[in-house]
Amino acid sequence: MEEQRLPVGQPFVESPRMTCRNVGVYYDGKSAIRHVNIDVGRNEVLAMIGPSGCGKTTFLRCLNRMNDTVAGCRVEGSILLDGMDIYGKSVDVVPLRARIGMVFQKPNPFPKSIYDNVAYGPRIHGLTTSAAELDEVVENSLRRAGLWEEVKDRLQQPGTGLSGGQQQRLCIARAIAVSPEVILMDEPCSALDPIATAKIEELIAELREQFSIVIVTHAMQQASRVSQRTAYFHLGDLMEVGATTRIFTNPRHKLTEDYITGRFG
Ligand SMILES: Nc1ncnc2c1ncn2[C@@H]1O[C@H](COP(=O)(O)OP(=O)(O)O)[C@@H](O)[C@H]1O
Ligand SMILES: [Mg+2]
Repeated sequence: MEEQRLPVGQPFVESPRMTCRNVGVYYDGKSAIRHVNIDVGRNEVLAMIGPSGCGKTTFLRCLNRMNDTVAGCRVEGSILLDGMDIYGKSVDVVPLRARIGMVFQKPNPFPKSIYDNVAYGPRIHGLTTSAAELDEVVENSLRRAGLWEEVKDRLQQPGTGLSGGQQQRLCIARAIAVSPEVILMDEPCSALDPIATAKIEELIAELREQFSIVIVTHAMQQASRVSQRTAYFHLGDLMEVGATTRIFTNPRHKLTEDYITGRFG
């Protein structure tokens, strides 16, 4: 049995949405993250912070098997979604990635109309049975992403013609159109201006009522504004996890303290 190394603080929650145990990732045999033990709660925003290269993106991409697409990448340990092993032999990654959606650093709408960007997932997963029902899903998703009023009169125009912030909200609408349980966000505001960033942060707070959200951010202010729990990574190790307010006011690990007080990063 491999040792189970736990981070300082509270990595586990009651009735978790996802559980990660002894997760490790290798790129071409070289360890990138190791012994990651943490839960993702229901209706929580979990922020992941830490210096560049510490493994935040690597860990995030384990949660919906995006690392499967990286040649030379190997994932070990166990990750469960509602008790199901997402790396199990019988798991189809296409529906898995609908249940665990992802929003990337750079907004990446498809080169399609605004409508078709949002309708894409429901169409490929066969989630609606009529055009009217699909219209409804598209409208609801755009409303929940806070974009409907801005685009309702130009749904047939290309998604790529929107501003950066609108494009990122379109990508969020696309993710929520298939009713995921978890949404992963990798520095979703790093390409946006402060006003667009504020809109996305507001949206994240609202989305928490329905989804679990795991967000990687290099902006500590953002972690403290949007998340309920924060996880601190350092050189591939998960060092500390706890209530966001506690992490930022009373970090228990020396490395967490050094990071949040700006001694490195
Ligand atoms: N596709 C890849 N191939 C090889 N090494 C990688 C790859 N992606 C990330 N790494 C390495 O894994 C480590 C963690 O990187 P990453 O998860 O991107 O960190 P972060 O998101 O915290 O900046 C780094 O040492 C990085 O160089
Ligand atoms: Mg990253």
